Amino acid sequence: MDEVWQYQFRIILLGDSTVGKSSLLKRFTDGTFSEVQDPTVGVDFYARVLEVEPGCKIKLQLWDTAGQERFRSITRSYYRNSVGGLLMFDVTNRRSYENIKEWLKEVNRHVYPQRTIFVLVGHKSDLTDDREVSREEAEKLADTLGLNYLETSAKSNSNVEEAFVKLTACIYESMKGGEIALEDGWDGVKRGFNPRALDRGKEGKQSDCNC
Ligand code: GTP
Ligand code: MG
Repeated sequence: MDEVWQYQFRIILLGDSTVGKSSLLKRFTDGTFSEVQDPTVGVDFYARVLEVEPGCKIKLQLWDTAGQERFRSITRSYYRNSVGGLLMFDVTNRRSYENIKEWLKEVNRHVYPQRTIFVLVGHKSDLTDDREVSREEAEKLADTLGLNYLETSAKSNSNVEEAFVKLTACIYESMKGGEIALEDGWDGVKRGFNPRALDRGKEGKQSDCNC
């Protein structure tokens, strides 16, 4: 039976090819890691439910995009209906780090005037000897861009859960603060079963969940 959830967030993973987007999602959704991972063709789909606060479950619809340029016209069509995402680079690949600003520009251009909430992720943190980007440098970039920053490894299962929890919490807080509005015709956030009455007055619903 499907798990009961109060809201659904559509999340997108972006970043250059081979930074580890599919691997991070596999680790997060089924707990596995493979040294050999085929490049994503177009877009893939994963899902998992997270509890953001006691009794408040969020279903994450996770869109795994292909980093390869030739799929860009397909992946672009997923930007607008995403409420947020992980913007990823590989800490052992300087080029992927330098491209982060381009990824952000590209998304913002397509979702404007809407806003997408991102967390910056430096991935493959297990490869300490091969680093080309230091944590300090990436933290500075995150500050400049106004993003949270985390370092993850799908291989050693480091910070994987935390990255998605952080992103989900940021989106949830923005929603509670009224910065994100649920709109007809936009699939970034959907209401599920028995949502918390963020607009309790309007719907007159009493929720038995605490969110
Ligand atoms: P595209 O689908 O082409 O955009 O690539 P991607 O970003 O999905 O990368 P993918 O998950 O396919 O990973 C690329 C390679 O990096 C694979 O060989 C993975 O096994 C490896 N990899 C992914 N995550 C990690 C990690 O945390 N540590 C290490 N050491 N290798 C990783
Ligand atoms: Mg992939």
